[in-house]
Amino acid sequence: MKELKTIRGMPDLYGPEVQVISFVEKTCEKVFRSFNFKEFRTPILENKSLFERSVGDTSDIIQKEMYELQDRKGESLCLRPEGTAGLVRALITNGLDDLEIKKYFYIGPMFRYERPQKGRKRQFVQAGIELIGDESINADVEILQVAKLVLDQLSISSELEINFIGDIECIENFRGYLRDYLQKYKDQIEEKLYFRLLRNPIRALDSKDQKIIEIIKDARPISDFFSEKQKTRFADVKSLLDSLDISYTVNPNLVRGLDYYTGLVFEFTNNNLGAQNAILGGGRYDNLIADLGGNKIPATGFALGVDRLAEIVATNTDNSGIFLGSLDAKSKAYAQKLGFKLRSNNPTLNVETYLGNANLNKQLKKADSFGFKFVIIIGQEELKSGVFKLKSLGSAAEELDITEKELLERFS
Ligand code: HAM
Repeated sequence: MKELKTIRGMPDLYGPEVQVISFVEKTCEKVFRSFNFKEFRTPILENKSLFERSVGDTSDIIQKEMYELQDRKGESLCLRPEGTAGLVRALITNGLDDLEIKKYFYIGPMFRYERPQKGRKRQFVQAGIELIGDESINADVEILQVAKLVLDQLSISSELEINFIGDIECIENFRGYLRDYLQKYKDQIEEKLYFRLLRNPIRALDSKDQKIIEIIKDARPISDFFSEKQKTRFADVKSLLDSLDISYTVNPNLVRGLDYYTGLVFEFTNNNLGAQNAILGGGRYDNLIADLGGNKIPATGFALGVDRLAEIVATNTDNSGIFLGSLDAKSKAYAQKLGFKLRSNNPTLNVETYLGNANLNKQLKKADSFGFKFVIIIGQEELKSGVFKLKSLGSAAEELDITEKELLERFS
């Protein structure tokens, strides 16, 4: 039989690791809802063509990162590599591509066949929002506020980088210019890379290749190709951000790896993650809904990497609940009854009714290792007197005699 193993880049999650991941997810959901974003769930499997038509067939995702499969009828499907395309597909197929402003969020697994490393997995969770139907700069700024509040609530320090890439015409003109520009350096660029860049020359701007970095330094910036209207819009976004005290730097090389962006794009970075320093990325995609066959509706959004953030979030795994230990069968049954009452009184209280047979000291150690703040060990004596010793663990260790009634009141 083949050896049992997990698939590379798709680790099982348990213990403190999953506790932090869950904390990040809950924080995202809380903040998203506080801005009145509503949940939207789309399937993990989509038609492969959806991503070719949205993310772009020259993007890294389509070129080398898709998990593809065929169903029994020979349909080409794939595991979703990101959430925006699926959500836009869902808007169109459910007739939700009307002019109403809509705000949706999603939290779920995405799949990319990338080389696993710190902050990078092949199955990872994204939490994202999409603000559909508003073309104003206030929509751009609202999603940046959401991003900032999530990161603040997780106490993550980050830098916001923004750029503006104009509309399709501007991007096409810039692409044409870059192709001509790169051609002058053809002899200095490795052949395969050169032809890849000719297909999608904008990626030269955020290339990690040292030679390309040198070459692209002297190219004209995309802002040279802006119309007057686009110049004003970018200036307006910046002054609105200034007035809301959202600090940022403009990175003219920030182009993002997905084809659907137009206008404002952005990334939040954190420098504790090594090479994978982008914790959150997004931008405007005013043409995507129409490009996929829906109505012409503007949109903007972002997604953050939950697993990536969890690697740098410091959480307090202390457990403020109660560990109810017991020393014999009768006490155990009583502990289960008491535990049930405590939980019914206060559904958020974490109560462990100990099921094993360890001695008193071992049970105290267990309670401590789980991080419980309070412990009660029940034996014959306690059953007889109806008075329990409520011990608090940790630095402020103390002991208090307490009856069942008092205990229920205290933890309700
Ligand atoms: P993205 O920049 O490709 O954008 O991904 C967003 C975030 O997902 C990244 O900043 C990163 O934190 C996380 N991420 C990406 N790949 C991995 C990986 N292999 N392992 C762990 N985390 C990863 C999008 O996906 C767009 N759909 C965002 C968007 C929404 N734009 C508009 N609306």
